[in-house]
Order: sequence, then structure tokens, then C-alpha cells
Amino acid sequence: MLSHVKPAAMALVALLGLTACQQQAPDAGAGAMFYRATCATCHEPGSRPQAPDLTGLAAMNGGRFPMARVTRIIDGRSEMRAHGSPMPVWGAILTGPEVRDLAAYLASIQQ
Ligand code: HEC
Repeated sequence: MLSHVKPAAMALVALLGLTACQQQAPDAGAGAMFYRATCATCHEPGSRPQAPDLTGLAAMNGGRFPMARVTRIIDGRSEMRAHGSPMPVWGAILTGPEVRDLAAYLASIQQ
């Protein structure tokens, strides 16, 4: 009897789940994971080629973490030599929530 209601209910649940996902605060813990997997090779101290120390981004920006700029760099919208070429464009690998997680993680490690 309820069989005709079920698809609609399931769509609603899926929609609510999606909305909850999009409104979730960035997860710096997940960002740390992505960072170790994708960025640390170059951005850890002593790495080759030497990439900038990402814990100093806020200090370089007058004490404020440059969230918008960092987000653009991570998702590949910013033309950055080392990231655009010969490096892959991260936007192809990292999607919206992951970019925000990574940016949140970077914001959390500022010194
Ligand atoms: C292949 C090495 C490499 C990898 C992997 C890499 N980077 Fe970079 N990154 C660099 C280099 C080199 C620069 C210096 C800018 C340039 O010359 O293009 C840089 C610059 C940056 C900057 C700007 C720093 C500044 O002082 O303005 C940010 C932010 C950044 N990277 C974040 C990341 C994040 C987040 C990841 C992981 C998704 C990542 N990078 C992965 C090499 C790398």
C-alpha cells in the first residue's frame, strides 16, 4: 500500500542527506589526510623541489589566512606554475568539500 510513497520518501532522504553534506563545516581532519597524500611530498620541510612553507601563509598576509587565494590555488583556478604545469591541476582530483577541508587544515596549521 505504501509502495507508491516509498520512492518519494527515499528521494527526500537523499535530498536531506545532500543538504546536510553541503552545510557541514569544513573538516580539517580530512584535510590533513588529503594534505599528507597530495601536498606533503613537496610542502614538507626539506622536500625537493623546495615548495613554500604553508604554515606561514597567514603571517605573509598580515596575520590573516588568505582563504580565498589558497582555495583557488588548491582547486586549480589560480594559475600557479608549479601547480598548473608540470603539476596536475588539483581541481581535477579534489572536489568542492575536499578543497574546503584542505583549506581548513592549512588555516589550522598557521603559525
Ligand atoms: C610537485 C610539488 C608540489 C605539490 C605536490 C604541491 N605543491 Fe603547492 N607549491 C609548490 C611550489 C613549487 C610552490 C611555489 C609556487 C610556484 O612556483 O608555482 C607551491 C605553492 C603553493 C601555495 C602558495 C604558497 C604561497 O606562498 O603563496 C599553496 C597555498 C600551495 N602550494 C598549496 C598546496 C596544496 C594544498 C597542495 C596539495 C593539494 C600542494 N600545494 C601540492 C609545489 C607543490
